[in-house]
Amino acid sequence: MDFAARHQAYLVRIETGLDSLLPAANARPARLHEAMRYSLQAGGKRLRPVLVLAAADLVESPPHDPLAAAVAVECLHTYSLIHDDLPCMDNDDLRRGRPTCHRAFDEATALLAGDALLTHAFRLLSASYAATPAHAHALIHELSHAASSEELIGGQMEDLLAEKQTDADAKQLVFIHLNKTAAMIRAALVMGGLCANLPLDAIDALRTLGRELGLTFQIVDDILDATSDSATLGKTVGKDVRDNKVTFIKLYGLDGARRSAREHTDAALAALDRLPGDTAFLRALIKTMLERKN
Ligand code: IPE
Ligand code: IPE
Ligand code: MG
Ligand code: MG
Ligand code: MG
Repeated sequence: MDFAARHQAYLVRIETGLDSLLPAANARPARLHEAMRYSLQAGGKRLRPVLVLAAADLVESPPHDPLAAAVAVECLHTYSLIHDDLPCMDNDDLRRGRPTCHRAFDEATALLAGDALLTHAFRLLSASYAATPAHAHALIHELSHAASSEELIGGQMEDLLAEKQTDADAKQLVFIHLNKTAAMIRAALVMGGLCANLPLDAIDALRTLGRELGLTFQIVDDILDATSDSATLGKTVGKDVRDNKVTFIKLYGLDGARRSAREHTDAALAALDRLPGDTAFLRALIKTMLERKN
């Protein structure tokens, strides 16, 4: 397997899907659709949609085309970034190497563009998989759960609440990471697995993999916030300390955070052994997480 070639092929498929499955930039009201595309088509890493496609490709010919599911996950993720950057949340000026949505447009437009991307994700799933209602239901169930007040939004809430504390502890930290970040990574893998019609025990392995990869991913995000520069990262750095965020670095130091990221990577790799099919791509992708630069 040529990892780079397959990764690149996934990215091309995702960019094409994003362009064709979103309302046109000139659809009325154009300002809103421009703002949605401005943030979505700004060149993120597309980790979550790649995970959808790669999990679906664990079987040779997935019975359900995973592309709309991949696009839905990226829409939802991008909504969470637009709102995460708002002045009332992390108050960030830079995202994906560009001014944040509320900086390029205005706060109200950014709020609405986020709302619209969130809504579009579910509209897309219901429309694209209408011919197979049980499958559509399973995808919507997975994504809505991951995006809910008990997962993504709950994690974001506790992330903000913990800023006000001086004694936020490891339990809170893990709750925040699992929910604000790992839930969506898990959902991406599970949705891919559902498109492949994988058996329940394999879906369960994908859940474990998503949890462990999600923890690695957010720990590395926190390490990069502390050690990288904004040109490389495409977003502001040093904000976690400035905003008193609870992170692995704050609780365990940089070395402790790095050790923890390695442990969760090992656990993610171990979960691969419980999956059917060719796991080489996922294995290689997981291994890149510790070395990522943005
Ligand atoms: C940023 O996600 C938010 C986190 C959960 C850490 P990504 O690092 O995947 O951002 P993009 O999609 O590549 O911009
Ligand atoms: C964001 O975590 C998680 C979500 C957007 C759900 P961060 O606040 O650490 O993400 P960045 O660093 O702004 O991308
Ligand atoms: Mg945040
Ligand atoms: Mg943020
Ligand atoms: Mg961060």
